[in-house]
Amino acid sequence: MKKLLTLLFTLVLTAGCLLGLTACGDNKGSNGKQTITVYTESGFAPFEYLNENGEVVGSDIDLMSEICEILGYNLVVKDVAFGAIFTNVQNDKWAVGAAGITVNAERSETGIFSDSYTTSVQYVIVKKGTFSEADLTDGKIDLTKLSGKKMGMQESTTGCWLIEDAVDGTKDDDENHVKGELEGTGASYIEYKNAVVASNDIGGKIDAVVIDELPAKSICKNNSELECFQINAEPESYAFYLNKEATELLSNINYVLAKLKEDGVVDYLINKHSGAYNLAK
Ligand code: ARG
Repeated sequence: MKKLLTLLFTLVLTAGCLLGLTACGDNKGSNGKQTITVYTESGFAPFEYLNENGEVVGSDIDLMSEICEILGYNLVVKDVAFGAIFTNVQNDKWAVGAAGITVNAERSETGIFSDSYTTSVQYVIVKKGTFSEADLTDGKIDLTKLSGKKMGMQESTTGCWLIEDAVDGTKDDDENHVKGELEGTGASYIEYKNAVVASNDIGGKIDAVVIDELPAKSICKNNSELECFQINAEPESYAFYLNKEATELLSNINYVLAKLKEDGVVDYLINKHSGAYNLAK
């Protein structure tokens, strides 16, 4: 903690000098500070989840708080449906999406991304005993092993698109149908508000939930009947999602983020929240 405070102090000084004119401007004193609205969806521990008091906490929230503190902004957190994060940010120049958001081409068309702060990969959560060693290739599950299964995913997420494409197929550049790995196998899916809610239906309405690695591990840690496996798919990078007009805010965030990454603060915060009990509903 002492190290963190020293670091914070150094960063405030450096950032204050370098960014003083742009970031702080005339905004002095608590009432004069610009407010940044952070949009998130809290069913995604350790990045964001609800604590015992129903407050949104997590490594993304801590990280944005550090950044706003250093840059001299107030911070307000809004917990919304995951898909709504993007539309909200598109309508507000002073909004930031901080929700374990994976950088991809579609999203880069509607907003701008900060530098990446961590990476992840998709996982599948199932009842213990669903898969055996024989189903794994290099410790991972191939998508084809989900043949005939009913899957639950969080709406508007990369895990959701991965499964939708595998079950429904995709289109090539000439609009021809490209068969998905799970097409015609009897596999199906249901979209949920988040993976925590979806996981309550495993063994009932669905057989499996597909979600990013650490949220999957957090769900399994809190339910001894469940286990999770890495899906054999492309790794993903997380970044903050900003309004297209917020180019100056973006470079300020990137400046601070680079220091926080370099000093291990990002990993420290993710680890700190990884032990937390996930109370998200
Ligand atoms: N990384 C995935 C995506 O960007 C899932 C993120 C879900 N985040 C959340 N806070 N619920 O689509």
